[in-house]
Amino acid sequence: MHVGVLVKEEACTLGKSGSKKFDALVTAMLKKVKPSQSEIEGTTRIANQIMGLLKESAPKDVEILLAGSTARGTQLSGNSDIDIFLLFPKSAKKERLETQGLRIAKSVIDRRKNERCEIKYAEHPYAKLFLEDAGVTVDVVPAYKISSADERATAVDRTQLHNEFVNSNLTQRQRNCVRLLKAFFDGHGVYGAEAMTEGFSGYLCELLIYHYGSFLQAITAFSNVNVPLVIEAKKRVEMGGASAEALVKKFKSTFIVIDPTDSNRNVAANVSIESLARAALASRALLKDPSKGTFYRSGYSDLDANARLSALRKGLGASTYTIHFVVPDIAEDIIWQQLKKLSSRLGSELSSNGFVTMLSLQSLHKREALISFFVRDAVIKAGIAKGPSVFMGNAASRFVAARRNSHLISLEGDRLYAIDSSRYATPKALLHAFISEKSSELPSYLEKKHMRIYVNSMPESVAKLVYQAYNGRKIDYKL
Ligand code: CTP
Ligand code: MG
Repeated sequence: MHVGVLVKEEACTLGKSGSKKFDALVTAMLKKVKPSQSEIEGTTRIANQIMGLLKESAPKDVEILLAGSTARGTQLSGNSDIDIFLLFPKSAKKERLETQGLRIAKSVIDRRKNERCEIKYAEHPYAKLFLEDAGVTVDVVPAYKISSADERATAVDRTQLHNEFVNSNLTQRQRNCVRLLKAFFDGHGVYGAEAMTEGFSGYLCELLIYHYGSFLQAITAFSNVNVPLVIEAKKRVEMGGASAEALVKKFKSTFIVIDPTDSNRNVAANVSIESLARAALASRALLKDPSKGTFYRSGYSDLDANARLSALRKGLGASTYTIHFVVPDIAEDIIWQQLKKLSSRLGSELSSNGFVTMLSLQSLHKREALISFFVRDAVIKAGIAKGPSVFMGNAASRFVAARRNSHLISLEGDRLYAIDSSRYATPKALLHAFISEKSSELPSYLEKKHMRIYVNSMPESVAKLVYQAYNGRKIDYKL
């Protein structure tokens, strides 16, 4: 566990002169991130229409509830996602929830208005309605109606409790602070709990604002954050000492925000330590220079991506090895996890064969997925194999006997070592062998037949994805 490594220095705060600038920035940003009255009215009208239609098709014992950020006044402008829950009585069977729930959702689609429905299988199935003419998507989620988390039967049942908590505990001003925090995290690539982001969910932002009080207070806290950070959101307290340690063990995480509606859930469970660290750096940069440039991370042009990557390679003395796949149209989280797994497997193969990976990137965009390694240029002719101590009799004999073709066998102290010809002279040879060997099974959705390997230059569309992934990983805050 990683405890107390940051030597307590002067805390990052906003100086007097910064305070005016910060207030002006908040006012300007709020204008951007808060939906206008007419946008809110438009979304509400559509939400009410859909809810009316759902009510008509649903049996009497099913309650229709508007949830998520539109129901809580914490949605961002331009984000016209509506979350509607179909709450079934607890006596209903799970199969009824799924079949009837999804049927009810589908029944409200009007094809004349360019509307369509897709069934999504996350942890729990739900229907996504695309209302193309209105430019809105609506998630219709079947769940059980509950009044406390102990009654929970599916992962999404808590949402109705979240609604209640936020609506009865956050002031209007704080809801705007939630919007600022979401937009700020989004600008720095850490908004969203999905596997590709491993960042802060909407509900987590709501709880952080509730706990810290305001956007400025949250940013100040994140500037000085250290792990373990254990927040008991309901009581607005931070835990330390033995009780924090116990929770770190319980949740197997060093960043914990206990759900006020369910003490057994860590709302921050999906936040990676890297996302937390990035949030800390971004917060420090914002306090140092409160401006639009630090609120949103500066963008990069991805024109001439091949040329930009080539310049980068030269600077690093490295070559890029990019494996590109076309993947099936299934849940992004699943493909992403497979991509990460394969990437780390290939990374360790490279390293155990003597290659030095300076940077490894993954990218997933619609049906295109890729892994790209920046490997230090070197021809690896031979590698070192460490052997046992000579005093270990049999093992030492076996080590020597197995190495008739070694360039050299020698001793370091009492331990044998050998210098053998390397199996692969280049990363390309290694990757090709790995991919073509029957023994090296790839994860199920990353199929060999849909794969290409590029050394250095690649089609511009692929280079763009690599370059974007590279920019996403960069730390470029002025601190
Ligand atoms: N939810 C959750 N855990 C998740 C995802 C969602 O508990 N991993 C619940 C939360 O109560 C959340 C609601 O489902 O508020 C709707 O999810 P989503 O639309 O992803 O988040 P919003 O809070 O609506 O935020 P956004 O503005 O990004 O839509
Ligand atoms: Mg939402």
